[in-house]
Amino acid sequence: MRFDVISLFPEFVAQLAGHGVVGRAGERGLLTLHGWNPRDFAEGNYRRVDDRPFGGGPGMVMMIDPLRAALAAARAADPAPARVIYLSPQGQRLDQRKVRELATRPRLILLCGRYEGVDERLIQAEVDEELSIGDYVLSGGELAAAVVIDAVARLLDGTLGDAESAGQDSFGEDGLLDCPHYTRPVEHALGRVPEVLLSGDHARIARWRRQQALGRTWLRRPDLLDEASLSAQDRALLEA
Ligand code: ADE
Repeated sequence: MRFDVISLFPEFVAQLAGHGVVGRAGERGLLTLHGWNPRDFAEGNYRRVDDRPFGGGPGMVMMIDPLRAALAAARAADPAPARVIYLSPQGQRLDQRKVRELATRPRLILLCGRYEGVDERLIQAEVDEELSIGDYVLSGGELAAAVVIDAVARLLDGTLGDAESAGQDSFGEDGLLDCPHYTRPVEHALGRVPEVLLSGDHARIARWRRQQALGRTWLRRPDLLDEASLSAQDRALLEA
């Protein structure tokens, strides 16, 4: 999968390629990451990329032409069809379902705004989809782009080892929060590992984990239960 990031700070996102899950996916040839700086496509001595908003008000708005030229260069760099995503708080909220959908695409171009935003005409003409990573305002789209890349990368076939399969995470296949996890030592001043996990009884362990996941979801994020895929047994547990 190919990611192109259009940003005034492409180094920011490029850092991702050197670390962790995204780095590993890169090493395994599962994804490539390319940065494009609109300033490199801006005209004049000052290479201006932003200007004051018509109608007045504070802040600056990113101009159409440098962004459009950067987008055109990114598109032309590879023949695969690209979906253009603009990261902004006005977008649809990102969730694991959306991440799964994005992971099926061959190519994403992530457009990061700065300042007060991007000229609306550019968004109308070039952007396929606007995405937000949550109801708060960041000072630019770069962190949001990094979130999208990380979340998508870990779903690409071969990124995670079998042991870390993405299906078992919070918001995995079943849409529930994750159960708690423990490792050595069994006895610690902060507490003891739950007995069931030491029992070696795989069916009991699986049942306990399911119960914990259901309980946590019910307590912390009851909204998720409406969409979760629950068995009759799960429902009985919840209604008990
Ligand atoms: N840019 C600024 N705030 C953002 C947010 N919450 N999500 C995505 N992009 C953003």
